[in-house]
Amino acid sequence: MTSLPAVNQSKEASASARAEATRVVLIVAGGIAAYKAPDLVRKLIAVGCEVQVVTTPAASAFCTELSLATVSGRPVRQSLLDAAEEGRVGHIEIADWAELVLVAPATADIMARAAAGVANDLATTILLATRAPVLWAPAMNSNMWSHPATQANLELLRARGAAFVGPDRGELACGWIGEGRMIDPPTIAAAARALVDRQPHPDLRSRASQDARTSWAGRKLVVTAGPTRAYLDPVRFISNASTGAMGFAIARAAAERGAEVVLVAGPVALETPPGVQRVDVETGAQMLEACEDTLQDANVDLVAMVAAVADLIPAEPSPGKLGKDRVLESFLAMRWRAEVDILATLTSRHQPRTRFLGFAAQTVDASARANDDERVSAELRRLGQAKLERKGCDALFVNRVGVPGVGFGSPTNAGLMLFAEGGEPVDAGGPRPKLALAEWMLDQLAARWWPGEGGS
Ligand code: CTP
Repeated sequence: MTSLPAVNQSKEASASARAEATRVVLIVAGGIAAYKAPDLVRKLIAVGCEVQVVTTPAASAFCTELSLATVSGRPVRQSLLDAAEEGRVGHIEIADWAELVLVAPATADIMARAAAGVANDLATTILLATRAPVLWAPAMNSNMWSHPATQANLELLRARGAAFVGPDRGELACGWIGEGRMIDPPTIAAAARALVDRQPHPDLRSRASQDARTSWAGRKLVVTAGPTRAYLDPVRFISNASTGAMGFAIARAAAERGAEVVLVAGPVALETPPGVQRVDVETGAQMLEACEDTLQDANVDLVAMVAAVADLIPAEPSPGKLGKDRVLESFLAMRWRAEVDILATLTSRHQPRTRFLGFAAQTVDASARANDDERVSAELRRLGQAKLERKGCDALFVNRVGVPGVGFGSPTNAGLMLFAEGGEPVDAGGPRPKLALAEWMLDQLAARWWPGEGGS
């Protein structure tokens, strides 16, 4: 269906309104970045698109209908209750017409409504009705972006096949500096073009492309995630703050790419990703045993050892619950031993048949703690390199803990990937949502270890 009316064609619009122009519905939501929407329309036209703009009512406060209509050469649509348009069921007509739906700026509100399947205005109705790919360019305050609700909506939309570009880091309209800035219009236009053409684009946080999926198809992975527990008596234990989110994200991303994934999970409150086989454990010894069971039975391509294993365990935990009167005395008298090093044990037994990805959550030395990015990065490299060698793993992802947006409990993460074969460590950028980071890691590993099989 290509019959939506074009009026007031601008010079740029008419120049590119060739038969093969890509039909883009641009949904402009109500955020300050909406003032960039006319420029975005121009950039989309410049990369060979014709653009139908749809605004939410709040968007009108930031950007005029007149400027959007002028640059796009089409009347802007906003109302779902427009008698003339809806006589032809206009919202379905627009949804069907689109080859790509682009939401820019995408506010936390429109992401939440789309994730919930709400269709209470023309924009969200189109998002529900369209079968075209959807590209989101989020823009919001950094706290709103990193809020678990927004991150959950992001993951839900991505799991349903949506692609994301941005947000960027930088100064925000609210005065904050952080992640949440809408990525610049030329990059959004290039990412939109790449998505339609099914080409890779460095800023596109899409679900795995078909190629990247096949590079992992048929591979077998063991992923460990979450904390382990060191029991002192049958009811008390020592553990750590790991939520398992990073390991679960890797398991999900690999399974989405067609890998067979066994997820060995410590005690966490997370749902098993679709298509993943899960084995629940509590202690380090159980985790080692569960990994060994799979490694003995099958040709495992990769073990991703993401779990935060408790370092010390009581040599002789009390068989009975220690009463309150004896607990302090018993704890102080307890002898401790080091927990088995699962990663070092497995690498010594199963390399080179299986490759190993280790993780290291590090705090940096006080002398490098100042906001001196270079010193912090050098310190992380040094600590990561030492751990990579000590554990004998093939790659190691090192992240700095104790800073906002990174590590345990955070929906986002950032860090460096080091490789045993040498070369410069690769910085993951970010902080990025853990699922996006997981995809980045899978791309990095496939590109190094299985080149020509779809790694990007
Ligand atoms: N690891 C493991 N078994 C352990 C401890 C850690 O397999 N008993 C793994 C982790 O899953 C991770 C890597 O080793 O992949 C590094 O873990 P980390 O806790 O950073 O290292 P530690 O060996 O505990 O060293 P340190 O506490 O001195 O930093």
